[in-house]
Amino acid sequence: MTLLLLLLAAYLLGSIPFAIVSSRLFGLADPRKYGSGNPGATNVLRSGNKAAALLTLVGDCAKGWLAAWGASRLGFDATDTALAGLAAFLGHVFSVFLRFNGGKGVATALGVLLGINAWVALAALATWLAVAFTTRYSSAAALSAALATPVAGYVLLGPTPVTGVLALIAAILIWRHSSNIRKLLNGTEGRIGGRKA
Ligand code: G3P
Repeated sequence: MTLLLLLLAAYLLGSIPFAIVSSRLFGLADPRKYGSGNPGATNVLRSGNKAAALLTLVGDCAKGWLAAWGASRLGFDATDTALAGLAAFLGHVFSVFLRFNGGKGVATALGVLLGINAWVALAALATWLAVAFTTRYSSAAALSAALATPVAGYVLLGPTPVTGVLALIAAILIWRHSSNIRKLLNGTEGRIGGRKA
């Protein structure tokens, strides 16, 4: 398989919007129409259906993992594997199935990290959990994990192209949280488990 085909396949895989899929499976409203409007696990949880939120989380995470892990299994080198993960992440954020509007990429980024390096993934997950349990803000947890990821990448992998890809994913993820940053600053951000408005 050529790199171009790999990236295309990873992008299409990442484009599958599990928030929409699981909401349809559970007979819920479209998550783009309530709460933050984000097609992601945190917003699906605002529907009150924990199973749908869990399916969203697992599905969005699994597609990122599969893209990176699959690339590595197919014999692509570490840089190309990271690029496959980036393609899946971009698929989630700019989904071809949602007219290039997608989610914020947190679960997919975690899956990509798992497919690239388990220790970097663990550092990001530990940061997310620590901030989420302390603040109960999913967005603050995601932003903190995004900041921690390139640092963990640099420490564990060195100044490699893979670390550069991780930094790019983190930058896009932070940019996708612009509205959350504004809400965190003006005190209107919703906490984890809050109901839809
Ligand atoms: O995973 C996305 C999360 O960080 C923020 O989601 O719905 O509160 O904008 P939301």
